[in-house]
Amino acid sequence: MTDLYRQSIEIILRSQTASGAYLASPNFPTYHYCWFRDGSFIAYAMDLVGEHESARRFHQWAAAAVSARAEVVERAIARASRGEPLTGTDYLHTRYAPDGAEAVGVEWPNFQLDGFGTWLWALGEHARLTRDAHSLPPQWLRAAGHLADYLTALWALPCYDCWEEFPDQVHPHTLAAIFGGLAAHSSLTGADHDPTLSAIQEFLRRRGAAKGGFAKYIGSQEVDASLLGLAVPYSVVAPDDPLMLTTVHRIEQELRRGGGVHRYAADTYYGGGEWVLLTAWLGWYYAQAGEWDKAQNALRWVEAQTDSQGRLTEQVPATLNAPAHYAPWRERWGEVANPLLWSHAKYLVLVTALKTGRDLAVSSQTRLAS
Ligand code: BGC
Repeated sequence: MTDLYRQSIEIILRSQTASGAYLASPNFPTYHYCWFRDGSFIAYAMDLVGEHESARRFHQWAAAAVSARAEVVERAIARASRGEPLTGTDYLHTRYAPDGAEAVGVEWPNFQLDGFGTWLWALGEHARLTRDAHSLPPQWLRAAGHLADYLTALWALPCYDCWEEFPDQVHPHTLAAIFGGLAAHSSLTGADHDPTLSAIQEFLRRRGAAKGGFAKYIGSQEVDASLLGLAVPYSVVAPDDPLMLTTVHRIEQELRRGGGVHRYAADTYYGGGEWVLLTAWLGWYYAQAGEWDKAQNALRWVEAQTDSQGRLTEQVPATLNAPAHYAPWRERWGEVANPLLWSHAKYLVLVTALKTGRDLAVSSQTRLAS
């Protein structure tokens, strides 16, 4: 195993708090919280590399954070079913302090749904990778049930996207995360989510496309790198679905002008650089699609971003979309978050996807030869 593989595990373990929460970045004050989105991918990566106890502690923390807010969930569902708008106290926040408390005194774009879908998906993966499907603690399953109800009631509402922007829009990536989460919840518990799963899939095919691929949000003509999630890991469509192939082609053409992948063309956060986790995500997609050379190339680019202390940053200031926006962000929040745990997690996911995919390919060739 490479140094970066070992360092990634160490950095993640070091940045997991005693409560089980993963800090998004230990060196970036604004990210001294645990996001359901980042945390769920980090837990998945830890399960993949055999650090199940770390993943278990995160899931325990996440389940407790949701259970403590069962009333909020019920209120949101009741309001949504009456067609009433949600106020600031009617929805779950997107990030929490290590002790599970909401961040106080700071305005944050909190109404985001994708992270809760991602948590349900990661919980399913935890059960699969630990072969523990029948012994997940009842408290986790209760929390998962609350979230499944919450997402079923709210999925069609506009909310902030996974980049915490565009609150008035409906985002295919968010819908995909909800889809992946509800599908995982069905497998875990036998709950019937078929009506919602079919409705999301049908909505995405009917309204979610632009220029032959998936769109950043409904009505947009732009592409966004998070759309990779529609195929990998949320499986709304297969990696070789024509809509997905066009989406990936657009990501390659429009969002990968250098070696790394941008979030979207008009992104100005820290000037809109190349994101490590997105490049690893594209590699993960390639690995699932059996495009080994391309996956390997993405892996090499990610590894080349390791700094002298073995850390992976959030984004690299290369081929910036909007160079004039870099300095103002640095003045506001400091240097780009480094290390970003989600970057390390996606790196571990890519390494594992390449290894597993190759092993499977070799064993099927061996079977054919014998
Ligand atoms: C990103 C989010 C992420 C958060 C913490 C934000 O800048 O847009 O996707 O969850 O940072 O890493």
